[in-house]
Amino acid sequence: MRDRHVAVIGTGYVGLTTGACLAALGHRVVCADADPYKVERLRRAEVDILEPGLPELVREGLDSGRLEFVQDTPGAVSDADVVFLCLPTPMGVGGAADLAAVEAVADEIRTVLPYEAVVVNKSTVPVGTAERVAALLGRPDVTVVSNPEFLREGHAVRDFLNPDRIVVGAADRAAAQRVADLYAELDAPLVLTDAASAELAKYAANFFLAMKLSFANNLATLCERFDADVNDVITGIGHDPRIGDAFLNPGPGWGGSCLPKDTHALLTVCEESGVEFPLLRATIETNVEHQRRLVERVVAGCSPGDGSLHGVRLALLGLSFKAGTSDLRDSPALAIARLLKARGAELYAYDPALSETRPDLSDLLTIVDTPEKAFEQARACVILTEWPQFRDLDWEAVAGLLETPVVYDFRNLLDPARLHRAALSWEGIGRSFAMAG
Ligand code: UDX
Repeated sequence: MRDRHVAVIGTGYVGLTTGACLAALGHRVVCADADPYKVERLRRAEVDILEPGLPELVREGLDSGRLEFVQDTPGAVSDADVVFLCLPTPMGVGGAADLAAVEAVADEIRTVLPYEAVVVNKSTVPVGTAERVAALLGRPDVTVVSNPEFLREGHAVRDFLNPDRIVVGAADRAAAQRVADLYAELDAPLVLTDAASAELAKYAANFFLAMKLSFANNLATLCERFDADVNDVITGIGHDPRIGDAFLNPGPGWGGSCLPKDTHALLTVCEESGVEFPLLRATIETNVEHQRRLVERVVAGCSPGDGSLHGVRLALLGLSFKAGTSDLRDSPALAIARLLKARGAELYAYDPALSETRPDLSDLLTIVDTPEKAFEQARACVILTEWPQFRDLDWEAVAGLLETPVVYDFRNLLDPARLHRAALSWEGIGRSFAMAG
């Protein structure tokens, strides 16, 4: 089904992707945002979010007249069949999700929503939010539907247009179907359910993904203990289709704007509802413990002998929470950097996504605009983000720059044999040069 009138409130990473992709699917979309600067830039197809394909879709939508950006939220919803709420739901006090933005917009649109319009919670929201928004709207003719996004940063357009599944939840199945119909052009399994199941499916997905990563990181530590190669172990279990080998790369811990927020929000929901979920708590605690353990490895290799890193300068490669993005929100690289700093280290960091837009991290580290500047007078190097360009650095030259020719490759990014030939000691996760073969 095409040419439905859709409003999207909020043009962040979820809202802009949703608006541009729904326009690409043939619908007429009005995106509203309270930030006039953002609206003006989007009207010129100037997209600040680093998402492959998104600027092109925005430009196509504007040129076709199917996509429009406004500041006037009430005006945007006044003739919409379906209204998507793509608003920030940050981690609030104690870990619960903060719904202030959702509540404010519900107040704004209550009286202008067309008769029998459908309101959709697209951003990740706690179980029960569809009911809360319905109560806030106080419009018995309007149905609130949960349609969670399963978008990965750096792959958002691809994930939206090629979803593994579409989940739509509402007590009123006809309203849920109206939302599902928006995606009719997409060939993906549809899960039509109630709102609470749809909301919980989102949290359960991110919890399971975080659990997989904590499993991989714990497994890596076990491999180090037994001189096993974690890559081979993961390949060895991954052929079992019940396990799979995706999303099992050991790293500096998991982070980003979603997994930490969603796992903590789910833990809060469990605590408040009296449901014991020890696996969830262990997943979160394992992530913190894993980062501590990695820092102890750097201390063991670089400390002047008193268990601290005082006077030790370290070169950090990568600060973004993963390659392909400039997003530092809950970045594991920053978590590791804070732990190294707390032991006294002096940190110089290079990240290809941060060479222009320099965030102010001066209380933690110095950002430099080339890897070489990070290596100057450094005791050792720590790789924290899996930027592929780090593979192509002149590692042969690096050996002469570092005080101790050691590279802590906490993404298992590099070829151990190449570093060995360059007289560098490669310190990976869950594998060593000897076993890497
Ligand atoms: C995640 C979910 O993947 C996505 O489905 C959901 O909609 C939003 O949250 P995103 O936050 O973009 O997406 O990050 P993701 O790609 O999942 O990575 C999360 C963290 O795990 C990153 O720090 C990444 O470096 C780390 N990671 C990921 C690993 O350490 N190893 C892996 O194999 C994969």
